[in-house]
Amino acid sequence: MNTFSRLYGHAPEGEWAAPGRVNLIGEHTDYNLGFVLPIALPQTVRAQARRRDDGLLRLHSTEGGSAEVAVADLAPGSVTGWAGYPAAVVWALREAGHDVGGAELSLDSDVPTGAGLSSSAALECAVAIAYNDLYGLGLSAPELALVAQRAENAYVGVPCGIMDQMASMCCRAGAALHLDSRDLAMRQVPVDLAGAGLALLVLDTRVKHDLGDGAYAGLRAGCERAARLLGLTALRELGPADLAAALPRLPEELRPLVRHVVTENERVSEAVAHLAAGALAALGPVLTAGHASLRDDYRVSCPETDLAVDTAVAAGAHGARMTGGGFGGSVIALVDAEAAEAVAADVTAAFLAKGFTAPRTLTATPAEGARRTA
Ligand code: GLA
Repeated sequence: MNTFSRLYGHAPEGEWAAPGRVNLIGEHTDYNLGFVLPIALPQTVRAQARRRDDGLLRLHSTEGGSAEVAVADLAPGSVTGWAGYPAAVVWALREAGHDVGGAELSLDSDVPTGAGLSSSAALECAVAIAYNDLYGLGLSAPELALVAQRAENAYVGVPCGIMDQMASMCCRAGAALHLDSRDLAMRQVPVDLAGAGLALLVLDTRVKHDLGDGAYAGLRAGCERAARLLGLTALRELGPADLAAALPRLPEELRPLVRHVVTENERVSEAVAHLAAGALAALGPVLTAGHASLRDDYRVSCPETDLAVDTAVAAGAHGARMTGGGFGGSVIALVDAEAAEAVAADVTAAFLAKGFTAPRTLTATPAEGARRTA
């Protein structure tokens, strides 16, 4: 008997899966209404679920244990810890006017947590897509992503942008998602790593990445302040040609933030052009330049992410960068497939030599977004 039946005494109505992600390039651009280029990971959060008509939300996760709450009692922050994410999604659906009630959910995940790989977005999206089917809501993938983002912003209290939820909901196998965060226009850009003899290493630095601690919110507020001072709705409206004139109009401390966002949007365009031309290895230097910008201008890197990037590049990677919000988390490195093991071994050795915890390594292939699996 599977876990769901053991827990709830009957079979689930269905099973759904939603993946974590790595972002190839376009970091801290989403809340500036700019461009991002994530891929979905093969690692997913899986939800088995069944509707309940008594208004009770019963939750179980392999890692986190069980929780139970009446959906009518849901209010921002009323459920904390891992169960807060599913609760937040149900709250956000109700807030958006959808007449949803209770459910039984059994959740299981192989997305590493706290590694900057969007395990929370995957959890939110798995619940959102399950509820969409259980209650026949008929919401589209982007609409579910927006519900999941609202859940995280207003219920969990993390002011994240839309990238992670859109990546988890809308990525396609074999492609990167070129997303315009302003109107959610998207284009699937084929990424055939194996065909090019390449691999994408993901090195989890094991430095706990926590966006709830205020640093992320502070950066976002800084960008919004800069946009206001420049008379813009969002920094997305600023092009590279405007930068020289715009920067002197800003207080010193905001200038590097703006420089990062503007140049990063450009790097997304460059990356897409390389992918479209089938020049995958040419992506490498764009990744490394993106890391330098996050380290020097946006200042969200840390010694471990810098060491992983520098060591990977010295070991022959075409390019490398931290991915996700920063302050730890994971680094991606674009490597020749046959060099993947050697690069990972060099990074591990460099970490141990510095007294850092050895990184956890996985290889990413662009996988499918959230879907019903049974
Ligand atoms: C986190 C957020 C995203 C995005 C990235 C940085 O992953 O959840 O919305 O802002 O950081 O690019």
